[in-house]
Amino acid sequence: MSDVLTVHGGTPLRGEVQVRGAKNLVSKAMVASLLGESVSRLRGVPEIADVRIVSGLLELHGVDVSGGPDDGELVLDPTNVERAHVADIDAHAGSSRIPILFCGPLLHRLGEAFIPDLGGCRIGERPINYHMDVLRQFGAEVEKRPEGLRIHAPKRLQGTKIALPFPSVGATEQVLLTAVRAEGLTELRNAATEPEILDLIAVLQKMGAIISVDIDRVVRIEGVDRLEGFNHRAIPDRIEAASWASAAFATRGEIFVEGASQPDMMTFLNVFRKIGGAFEVDDRGIRFWRDADPKRAVVLETDVHPGFMTDWQQPLVVALTQTSGLSIVHETVYENRLGFTRALNDMGATIQLYRECLGGLPCRFGQRNFLHSAVVSGPTKLHGAEIEVPDLRGGFSYLIAALAAEGDSRVHGIELIYRGYERFLDKLDAVGANYERG
Ligand code: EPU
Repeated sequence: MSDVLTVHGGTPLRGEVQVRGAKNLVSKAMVASLLGESVSRLRGVPEIADVRIVSGLLELHGVDVSGGPDDGELVLDPTNVERAHVADIDAHAGSSRIPILFCGPLLHRLGEAFIPDLGGCRIGERPINYHMDVLRQFGAEVEKRPEGLRIHAPKRLQGTKIALPFPSVGATEQVLLTAVRAEGLTELRNAATEPEILDLIAVLQKMGAIISVDIDRVVRIEGVDRLEGFNHRAIPDRIEAASWASAAFATRGEIFVEGASQPDMMTFLNVFRKIGGAFEVDDRGIRFWRDADPKRAVVLETDVHPGFMTDWQQPLVVALTQTSGLSIVHETVYENRLGFTRALNDMGATIQLYRECLGGLPCRFGQRNFLHSAVVSGPTKLHGAEIEVPDLRGGFSYLIAALAAEGDSRVHGIELIYRGYERFLDKLDAVGANYERG
């Protein structure tokens, strides 16, 4: 049964929330602990479902995981890494895509890995072809079985030259987590360089890896024979921070996001300012509100870093329904990340989707029949509705819309939001949201 929230909209959100470590770094750093011969300590760990899923998978493979989100620190001891039963892996994988990143570390430690059917948000087809190609290039063999994929390394994996067709975050992480203990040099071209990836590289360097990152998306990794544990504080979650900023804007409130970090949010902050958002940065975080000046529409294209993150797109679109004029959004990372706008239209928004690339450059989805561009006409009055959470970021965006709308909304399936937004109900309380469960 899905969890329901009844939201009474129309109250500006005012107050303070805290963001901790980035979901998209924490889960990967946890996987990296498998590569070490000694204990790792990770701080700033948020209380989200993805951390529980990865902890469960690590424990299945013999890693002792202690500590927890209450004090924000995990202690990961990989001394007794062992094979796990296929059925157990399957049961633990939940709706996460992280199991695929276990491949490299498990191939080094055990010579084989098993990958169940992957979950994750339904924001596009999300194939794993880059991952499998990368692993084969290192010398691994991939075998399809009815219950998933079995990957094994007949001998030590070998460093190699790889060029990704697209700077995929996950495939870049796959290369990093595999190359650090492969024999010899690996050169990765067209790598993703998101701050979370640079933070993962920092983790691996602490463990003993040798990795250089050039400005032209080329990453070079010199394989080493042994890695130790790490001691690391995760970078803050810039997606969560931007989500609260969008909530402050859409509800005409003011939210101080403790822990929000300006350098990793530069591109978001520029767009936020252009649409009439205001912010003030201090040593503790960033305060977001909405300027009194007339609001302007924007032309926006999502892209890999340092572009505008695809994960910022969904909450920002809700904010765009409250700006004046026609905004254009071209989603170039996921082919189906604008589908969530249908429910916003049911709430009174005017958002038209297009198959054409409405941005400056044609993208991979241009001639392929995907509704991946949007024209958002604002400002529109939103009204309460019955809505079903479609995916993690879309779900939080619906909450923002419901909080900005006049009247009551019932948001179904809020359990999905726990995957990436820790204690979000407590945080809604802290900013004065008016809602009840059920
Ligand atoms: N792609 C392929 N083949 C592959 C891998 C990716 O075609 O083998 C395509 C994807 O279909 C997509 C594009 O490449 O069109 C980019 O995907 P990427 O691999 O970069 O995404 P990911 O690693 O699966 C991570 C985050 C996402 C975030 C993206 C982009 C995690 C666990 N997930 O996904 O986060 O949107 O990078 O920044 O790190 C979220 O947090 O809500 C979320 C979805």
